[in-house]
Amino acid sequence: MTIQWFPGHMTRARRQIQDKLKLIDVVIELLDARLPVSSRNPMIDEILQGKPRMILLNKSDLADAKVTQEWIEYFKKEGITAFPVDASTGTNVKDIPTQARLLLKEKIDRQIAKGINPRAVRGLIVGIPNVGKSTLINRLAGRNIAATGDRPGVTKGQQWIKVGKEMELLDTPGILWPKFEDQNVGYRLAVTGAIKEEILNAEDIAFFGIGYLMRYYWDSLEERYGLQEFSKDADDSDSVIAIMEQVGRIRGCVVSGGRIDLEKASRAFLRELRAGKMGRFSMEAPY
Ligand code: G4P
Repeated sequence: MTIQWFPGHMTRARRQIQDKLKLIDVVIELLDARLPVSSRNPMIDEILQGKPRMILLNKSDLADAKVTQEWIEYFKKEGITAFPVDASTGTNVKDIPTQARLLLKEKIDRQIAKGINPRAVRGLIVGIPNVGKSTLINRLAGRNIAATGDRPGVTKGQQWIKVGKEMELLDTPGILWPKFEDQNVGYRLAVTGAIKEEILNAEDIAFFGIGYLMRYYWDSLEERYGLQEFSKDADDSDSVIAIMEQVGRIRGCVVSGGRIDLEKASRAFLRELRAGKMGRFSMEAPY
């Protein structure tokens, strides 16, 4: 689902997270592995006020594995624990409680030295809409807990979910707004499905997406749509449109007179791209 973020929503979202921070030991920040910059909240450091946190690069099944690895190294250099996960299948999800305890090791060791039996680590998942927060909560809980599509400003009673013996999680995630101040960021979010077509026009999003794949993942595009005879020149808009038309032709988006319905073709292209049918891709790299 898509939330239109106005300043009032942002203030409320921020306040809600800051209220929850008082209850928890560690923040689990979810980013989209394909675009860790654009899917990151621009004020996150300020909002978290120094709370221990880890970064999970979710949807890593859809991202370019080599680029994801570069991001992990980048965050490590910044002194931040980060690792890739796939909430939909559960890859690496079992490492989250262990990593959370490691982040709090000093505090836990101090408690043990004083003879105190440390309680379960309390965590909060935060991230932008559609990054996979509810999927991850359900995965960690081992059952269906989080209602997908909760909105900032709508509160409900909070509960702790047990994740094994060592961790507890707030059942409602913290919802943050993405970094959409520049237009390319908006398009990247839209190509990956974090922003839906109701906000940006499907043809514009597909145009951006095709241009991107032409530049960086030509082989995947060529193979899927049979583009052996097509120009690779992503700077030439006619070449991009020719590919859009080819997608339409192959997917049967033809209207009377043999004309291609570009909007339908664009939606078909975006559906396939988001579902990983063109293979893995990343839209942002750290270096
Ligand atoms: P949110 O709470 O942060 O808003 O996100 P949510 O869990 O609702 O996930 C948004 C979409 O992303 C869902 O797909 C979900 O299945 C998908 N998703 C979450 N994590 C992963 C992942 O690691 N890999 C992949 N490939 N997809 C992931 P949807 O199409 O909106 O719904 P549905 O088709 O699952 O019903």
